Formats: sequence, C-alpha cells, structure tokens
Amino acid sequence: MLPRFLPIMTALALASSLPAANPSGQPGLAPSANRPPSHLRTSTFQEFHWGVAYYPEHGELATLDQDAERMLAAGMNTVRMAEFAWDLMEPEEGRYDFSFFDDAIARLGAKGIRTILCTPTAAPPRWLSLSHPEILRVDARGVVQRHGSRQHASTASDVYRDYSRKITRAMAEHFANNPNVIGWQTDNEFNCHFSEDYSAGAAQAWIGFLREKFHDDIAALNRAWGTAFWAQTYARFEDVPLPAAGQPTHLNPAHRLDYTRFIAWTVARFQHDQVEILRAAQPRWWITHNGMFRLVDYRGQFGRDLDVLGCDVYPMFTWDPRQRGATQAWALDAARAWTGNFFVPEHQSGPGGQTDYFHDNPEPGELRRMLYTSFAHGADSVLLFRWRTARFGAEEYWCGVLDHDNVPRRRYAEVAQVGAELARVGPALLGTHVAIDTAIAATDFDNTNAHEALHFNLPAPDQVAAELHGHFWRAGYRVGAVHPGDTLRGLKLYIIPHFTIIDTAWLPQLESWVRDGGVLVIGARAGTKDADNNVTTDLLPGVLRPLVGATVVEYGRQNAPEQRPLELEIAGKRVLSREWYEQLAPDDGTEVWLRWATRHQTGTPAATLHRLGKGAVVYVGTYLNGAVGGALVPELAKLAHVLPALAGAPAGVEVVRREADDRALWFLINHTEQPQYVTGLPRGRDLVADRDVRDELTLPPRGVAVIRTPR
Ligand code: GAL
Repeated sequence: MLPRFLPIMTALALASSLPAANPSGQPGLAPSANRPPSHLRTSTFQEFHWGVAYYPEHGELATLDQDAERMLAAGMNTVRMAEFAWDLMEPEEGRYDFSFFDDAIARLGAKGIRTILCTPTAAPPRWLSLSHPEILRVDARGVVQRHGSRQHASTASDVYRDYSRKITRAMAEHFANNPNVIGWQTDNEFNCHFSEDYSAGAAQAWIGFLREKFHDDIAALNRAWGTAFWAQTYARFEDVPLPAAGQPTHLNPAHRLDYTRFIAWTVARFQHDQVEILRAAQPRWWITHNGMFRLVDYRGQFGRDLDVLGCDVYPMFTWDPRQRGATQAWALDAARAWTGNFFVPEHQSGPGGQTDYFHDNPEPGELRRMLYTSFAHGADSVLLFRWRTARFGAEEYWCGVLDHDNVPRRRYAEVAQVGAELARVGPALLGTHVAIDTAIAATDFDNTNAHEALHFNLPAPDQVAAELHGHFWRAGYRVGAVHPGDTLRGLKLYIIPHFTIIDTAWLPQLESWVRDGGVLVIGARAGTKDADNNVTTDLLPGVLRPLVGATVVEYGRQNAPEQRPLELEIAGKRVLSREWYEQLAPDDGTEVWLRWATRHQTGTPAATLHRLGKGAVVYVGTYLNGAVGGALVPELAKLAHVLPALAGAPAGVEVVRREADDRALWFLINHTEQPQYVTGLPRGRDLVADRDVRDELTLPPRGVAVIRTPR
C-alpha cells in the first residue's frame, strides 16, 4: 500500500465540494472525480472537444483572428494554451502578468473557441532555477539537470512544490471567472523525458515517504526489504539511500520497487497540490493531464484526482508504417485500461522532428486514419499538436496543422474534413464505451516496476501483452487491455501475462468470473513474488495455485535456445520456447493441455487446464511472446469461443464497436493502401459519409466508416 498523502477526510471534503453536475450550463464536463476507474468508464464530456494546442506566445497573436476563422472552418471549438509560458506570466518573482492570455482567450472566445489552460510547471523560468538551484533534478549519475530545455525541476522538492502552488494559485484566481476557460491540464507529460530523481529534495521526501509507509518503524522496513542480505540493515530512516541502478552493482529489488512507488507518489502529490487549488478556485472546471509515461500510477491517486485522464497520441514514432495501426491500437487500449475513455490533449497532426529524428510525413488519408483509430479506441475528445509549426526552439520542425508559412495545405484540408464529420460522429460517440470480449492484463504499476527491478532480461509483462494484443488485433478480434482489479464483465477470454505480484484482492472476482464461463490464461512466473518484490516460499504459482490447480516443479531460463532447443507442441506443431520454461505437475482433476517435446522435458506438462464451473483456467509454463504467442492465440480463441468482430471484414480492416444502452457505433478503418470490400454489415447509418448502409460497403484506401445502429 502506498502511504496516503491525502488524508481520507480531506478526500471526502474535497469530493463533497464538487458539484454533482456542471453548474455553469456551459459546454464542458460534469466533474467525475470519485467515479471508480474502469476500462468501461466513459468521460462525462458534454460536447466533443476538437481543436489544437495553440501558442500565441510564439508570435500567433498577430494571426489570431485569422487563426480563429480557420479553426472554425475546420469545425474546432477548443484550444489548449500556456503549458510552457511561466516566463511570460511571471517575468520576475511575484510579478504576474496574464494580460497576454486574457487577450488571446477573449478573442478566441468571442468566436466561440474555448480554452483549456495548463499549469506551466514543466518549464520553470530562469529566475527560479537561478535563485533556487536546489529545485533542479539530479539523475542517477548525480548530474544536476540544467536550465535550457524542460522538465528540469523536481516534483519531489518542497521548494518547487511551493512555487508550483504559487503560480497555480495566481493563475486559478486570475482566470476563475473567465467564462471562456473551461478546463485545465496539470503540468505537461510528467516524467516524459526522465522519471528518476536523486536530488537532495528527493532524498528528503523519500524519508517522509518511508516513515509513512512503515509507520515510523525502521524494523518493519528492514523486514520488508530483507536488508539482512549484503549488510543493508538500516538504523534510521534518514540512513536509507535513494537506490540508483547499477551503482555500483545489483540492487535490492524490494528497495528498488519502493523507490519507483516513491517517485509515483511524489508526482501524484505534486499534481494534487495543483488540483486542490484549481478546484477551490472554480468548481466548474474539469481537470486532466497528458500521459502516459514511466513511474506514474495513473490508476492510483494520480488518476483519481482527475476528471478525465489524457493520453498524447504520436503514432509516427512507430517507424514501420505497416506496424502503426497495431501499435496505436495497443497504446490506446492500454491507456483506456488505466481509467476508461480518455481525452487526447495532443494528437499527431504532421511529421514531428527534434534533434535526431524527423518522422515520415503522414501520407494523404493517414492523419484521418490515425484520428479514427483514436476515436474508435476510447478518445472522447481530441486536440491536435499543434496549430502551426514553430519557427524556433527545439521543436522548430515539429509540424502542426499549418506549415511555417501559414499556408493551409493538405493537412489542414484533412483536419477540416474530420472536423465536418465530427459534427455527426462526436455527439454519437460521447457516452459509449469500447465493447470487447478478449482482454490482456496490463498497466499494473507494481508488476511493471517489479519486473524492471529484477528482469533477467525477460520481456516485460506489458511488452508481452502488446505482442499478444497484436496477434488478436490483426486477426480481427474484439481485444483490449483490462487491469485485474477492474470489472471483467463482458469478457470471455482474459490473459494475465507474467504478473509476478498477484494481489489476493483480485482472486475472488477472477474465480467467480471463471465459474461463470470465462477462460483465464496465466503465463509463467505468475504469483512468484510478494507485494514487497521478495520471492514467495509457497509452492508455485503461489496464491494462484487453487485457481490453476497445478504446481510448478522446475523452471529455467533459455539463454541459447537454438543450441538446446526446448520446444512445446501446440496444435500438432512444435514451437520453440525462447525465454523460459516450467515443468508443471497437475493436481487431480486438472488436465495437461500442452506438453514439452524435446530434451530433458520431453513429455512433461507445459500447460495445464483446470475446469472450474462453466469456465477454465489455463496455465502456460512459458513466455507468451514470439512464436509461442502466435501459435497459442488461435487455440485460446477456440477454447473461449471468441470470434472476430465482423466475419466479412478483410485483413487490414479494423473493426471496433463502441456501445451505449441505446446504440452501437461500428468503426471500420482501412489500414491498407487499397480499397477494401466489407460485407455482413449491420443495417445502419454511416455517420462519416452521412448515408444509410446495408450489408456491404467499399472503403477507399485508408478510408473509414462509422455505422450507427440500434444496440
Ligand atoms: C509531447 C509534448 C509536447 C511536444 C510534443 C512534440 O510529448 O507534450 O510539448 O513536445 O510532444 O514533441
């Protein structure tokens, strides 16, 4: 359990201070704090926000009126501003000047374009880094981060927290009654460039974190971390170092896992300061943040503090265009697994470039294709990054909707086309969730970081999840990602890949879901660790044994799989296991599902199947990546009776269904460069083309359709 920096009473008081509905009557969002996170949770946006990240401080004030006209012509209604403008708003300590943004917000507002403001704490001004160098982050090698780019200040530092509260309060009070400011983004992409922190401020906060976590009892810390190993016993909390990887060599995995929890805690606490101030200043504002990055637990306090989680979407970082659809779908499904449908504060709108890379320029139709993939997978509002390409700074070639010369070209035309379509698609989309029947467990903070602390160079659980997801996605299944603490309602097949830490709180639900007919699949090494990241002495797979109905009797790493190939037999074929093997012993009543086929394991159980009620638990004693995953996916689909979303959709056409009580939206997305003929469609109206559809349609290259049907 993480220490709670937010006492329960404060949390309750805060919640009760939130109005039940949006009192302003303005388009925006009814506050949704305290709705439990779930992949099925929809946002409470009352309109689809469509717009751009806008930077009047980069010279755009001169073109603002023309910009606003062009935005309106592209169907836009929202801009996001000010996330890197602290220097402008507080040019010297304590002297605030918001007139610049007052002007920009008012002029945009007069045209009907509303503003989301940001707290500017991702880039503290020079006067602050000069007067308080102790706020600067320090990396694992002890190098102090310098002023000159961004994210150089420590969210753990009490001094920096104080400055963060001051600028947030000044902005909040100044804009509280501005009718055109509808919401806020906290900071910008916490932990995007680097997440660790070894500054003196972090060391100080670390002591407080540990004291709270171990209830002031240093003996409890020593026990929990097994500090008897390598003479690590600590006499006082003040003596416990921040663990920098590799310095000098291997670290205690328990110490390391708590350090990652600590970093997540400092980020959540830093954000919470800002959220409290913003909510107190104006309850009608909704609050978001743009993720997703390392060492932030978006499902924990961090996400619970927000009305809606944001997810920045940059598919062009996948260099191979053939993989872009699958990786984007996975990133979005994983984002939705944290808390539900999300906001996209930044969506790629052109090729991005920084010092050492320059993306492919999206080809005609590719930008629109990417946007529809985002809409299909849970985006409830989208802002493009950015309106116009900057002329200077580290991102002077990060291309926006408009080029440097301000001439609207094909990117603008494509964006305007989507804007026109959104007039029909946007309202239909709000209130729907993504309907899936197959899911892979992902986004568990502890498991991700327990793996990093001691990984044996094995693939991370989320990496294996991404690969499995890719197999299902390419074959057209209704696949997503779901955290094991979330509801499993609607799922038929659920795979937990290699979670070494299994929270016993997940077990009752897993069992009742299996008894009701679900097929649960568990990958090797599951349940081998306790919550502190120490190894269990229970028979493996530890707390999962009763569900699995089998025991792991031997395990090993394969370091040169070609030299001593260990193969298992899947559907009559031999498949090489490259990472890890386990020999299983089924309990009475548990079937052997797969066997090893080579070397000293020939004929021993490699996977078991435990029937339970109407469902079954499959335990696979190897890693679910590579050839093993590819061969297993069709077998698992058969076992769980899951079928592709639409039998008449050809390869390369993605089909995703979003649903509400009264309607379904069928997203059809052609990822290929050829026209594709789709049959077997339900009768409904294609909201993109604005025409009725019956049974079939042909999607142009990179074309999209969104068919609305009754549920
Ligand atoms: C995001 C960031 C933006 C901008 C963009 C393009 O990660 O939030 O500020 O840097 O990438 O690089």
